[in-house]
Amino acid sequence: MIRFENIKKIYQMGKVSFEALKGINLTVKKGEFVSIMGPSGSGKSTLMNIIGCLDTATEGSYYLEDKNAAGLSFDQLSDIRNRKIGFVFQNFNLLPYATAYENVELPMLFSGKNTADRKKTVKKFLSMVGLWDWAGHRPTELSGGEQQRVAIARALVNDPPIILADEPTGNLDSKSGTEIMEIFNNLWQSGKTILMVTHDQKVADYSERTINLFDGNVISN
Ligand SMILES: Nc1ncnc2c1ncn2[C@@H]1O[C@H](COP(=O)(O)OP(=O)(O)OP(=O)(O)O)[C@@H](O)[C@H]1O
Ligand SMILES: [Mg+2]
Repeated sequence: MIRFENIKKIYQMGKVSFEALKGINLTVKKGEFVSIMGPSGSGKSTLMNIIGCLDTATEGSYYLEDKNAAGLSFDQLSDIRNRKIGFVFQNFNLLPYATAYENVELPMLFSGKNTADRKKTVKKFLSMVGLWDWAGHRPTELSGGEQQRVAIARALVNDPPIILADEPTGNLDSKSGTEIMEIFNNLWQSGKTILMVTHDQKVADYSERTINLFDGNVISN
């Protein structure tokens, strides 16, 4: 489903360049649950951004469902992103002035669903994460764990086959973290492919295997 061939990412800052990924090879099969670990600065978020088509590699090939993402236009990349990938971030990234309902509805505003279909879908996924009764609350009126559950519901509304999560439990207490991991576990059981960055071995233990990064290289997987 996901294949990297000698992926390099070089960040250019004026005259200084920095090689954040130094030739990554990896494969993730459909339906796998993979965690990504490594020290701060080792390239985990850089790797996730390329997988999520939020950024492009400087060199190498990235195949998503056997299609080479290198060479696609910005519009083509955002189209793939909307259809194929659900994102969950450490800091939830919810719109602060929008309700839980509106946050979850948002990705569907770009996918051309009518109001009734959107409502059905918001209800389905907010219920799935146990928060339909909180639909009218804004992020400030929700706990961290609840905000992350809203963010997961939002990531799922367009039914993406791949979920990318960058430290999804990083800002949560251990009880909320466990609730989030139970949701990921259910998503994996339902057939989603999941890639998750974490610093926490207990969180990584939910996955089937771990890709370890160090200084822009994969050191084990
Ligand atoms: N936009 C950018 N411009 C320049 N350098 C960057 C940029 N983004 C990341 N880097 C550098 O690339 C390296 C890898 O960054 P990355 O964010 O991928 O690390 P990480 O493994 O996610 O770390 P953390 O655990 O702290 O989130 C770091 O040294 C970082 O400073
Ligand atoms: Mg990071």
